[in-house]
Order: sequence, then C-alpha cells, then structure tokens
Amino acid sequence: MSTATVRSVSERLSAAGTANALELRGVTKRFGALAALTDVTITVKPGERRAVLGSNGAGKTTLFNCVTGDFLPTSGTIRLFGEDVTNFPAHERIRRGLRRTYQISLLFTGLTVFDNVYLACRGVSRGRFSMLRPRKGDTLVQSAYELIEAVHLSDIAQIKVSELSYGQQRQLEIALALAGAPRFVLFDEPAAGLSPKERAELVEILTNLPSHIGYIIIEHDMDVALRVAETVSMMHNGRIFKEGLPSEIESDPEVQELYLGGGHG
Ligand SMILES: Nc1ncnc2c1ncn2[C@@H]1O[C@H](COP(=O)(O)OP(=O)(O)OP(=O)(O)O)[C@@H](O)[C@H]1O
Ligand SMILES: [Mg+2]
Repeated sequence: MSTATVRSVSERLSAAGTANALELRGVTKRFGALAALTDVTITVKPGERRAVLGSNGAGKTTLFNCVTGDFLPTSGTIRLFGEDVTNFPAHERIRRGLRRTYQISLLFTGLTVFDNVYLACRGVSRGRFSMLRPRKGDTLVQSAYELIEAVHLSDIAQIKVSELSYGQQRQLEIALALAGAPRFVLFDEPAAGLSPKERAELVEILTNLPSHIGYIIIEHDMDVALRVAETVSMMHNGRIFKEGLPSEIESDPEVQELYLGGGHG
C-alpha cells in the first residue's frame, strides 16, 4: 500500500471519528404554500440521544422524512456521519446506518415476532433473496434473537404479532429498526398510546441500547422524553425555537408557556 493511500485512509477514518452523526443546515420543506419546516439547523453527535418535542403539526415527522429521504427538502443540506446525503435516496441512507420507526404501525401481523425480526435482519443483509428457511446457527437467527431480547420479547418470540398487546407491538417495531446494526435511529412517538407500565418498559429498552447507537425520539410525553434523551430540541410552527439539556428545557418559561401550558395531550 502506498504512503498516499495509507494517509488518505487514516484521514478518512479520523474525519469519520469527528463527524457529527447528523447535521441539518437551514432545512426548509414546503408543501405548496405551507412551510412544514423553516430554516431548521440541528447537530447531533455520534451516540447522542436527542428528543424533539413540539405540538401537533410542528413539523417533527416532516423533519424525520427529510432525514430519511422520504421527502427531499425544498432547500438546505443534510449530512449523515459527515457525508452530504441531501439528495440521496432512502436506501443509500439506510446503507449508511440510518433507521426509523413510523408513527403508524407497519408490522406483518400474520407472522410471529421472530419471523418479523428475522425478515428485517435478512432485508438488510447480503443474500436477502435466498429462499432458504432459517437454520439454527445461522448468524441472522442469532441476531434476530438478540434483538428480540433487547426489546424484552424473548418469552413470546413464537407468538403471532396479531396476538401481541399494543405495547408489545411497539417494542417489536423498535427491534425491526435495530436490524442490521444501525448507527442512528429515528423513533417517531414510540410511547404514543402506551400504558404507564409499557412506558416504563420503553424507557428501559431505549436507555439500555448500545452506547454507540444515537437517536432522535419524537415524543409528546415530557416525562419519557426527558428520561431517554441527553439533549432536547423544541419545535413550533416548523422551526426549532430552543435547544438544551432536559433540565434547562423543563424549567424554561417559553417552553412551559408554548408547550406545557398549551393543554397538550
Ligand atoms: N405529505 C404532506 N403533504 C402536505 N402537507 C403535509 C405533508 N406532511 C405533513 N404536512 C403538513 O406539514 C405540517 C407538519 O406536519 P408533521 O406531520 O411534520 O407534524 P408533526 O409535528 O409530526 O405533528 P404530530 O405531532 O401531529 O405528529 C402539518 O401542517 C402537516 O399537515
Ligand atoms: Mg408526527
């Protein structure tokens, strides 16, 4: 290997080490006359856990859709681990370690928990078009069971999804988003509709994820958000109007006025 090649590899690695996980600069997204996002700038470090809070229609899901490539922003740039992915299709962002969950469930309800997770693992691996049935000792089988354990569903791995409680289905969605060793995950309201016990379980699952996995969680429940996030961004009318530590956000008068005082459910 030439000296030049060695240098360029080490430069690339050190650049990757210092790059932010996610960087949005001046992102605006318009739907006709409606600006769903206006000049949004966000920086999230590798492994950082961020909550995005804001009222209905604030632009939170649109933000996720721009990051994943489901929508192209009207203007602005999006960088993922240092690379400009603004115009990349969604699958290229997935290939770079980005995953998401949806506000609406997208599970195969006729299949078991295991089958859903196994298929997700297969979907992001090489050889995904093979028709072979899963075999014991197959590394994907192993990965699927590890993910099922990470979301506390080991006891019911062979149960059909249609028989799971709502909360268990949301836990399964987290396992699907974790398939294929992601580096950064976007969770869209994973606590919506959960009971207090299920919320506590969700908090435990998220806080126990491997520390290199960063995420953004959209959350209406301030209690959940402040426990699973290290940093918080507040959105209103398509703009980020405040960022800070959970303790700073909780005690901020503007946040209390706009968000907590707004009778948000
Ligand atoms: N595909 C779309 N076409 C047109 N308008 C859209 C589209 N997606 C979102 N919007 C609009 O953009 C604005 C922001 O919506 P978004 O779904 O991002 O809000 P949100 O913060 O996720 O809200 P919620 O808390 O209700 O999920 C809303 O006014 C919404 O109606
Ligand atoms: Mg939304």
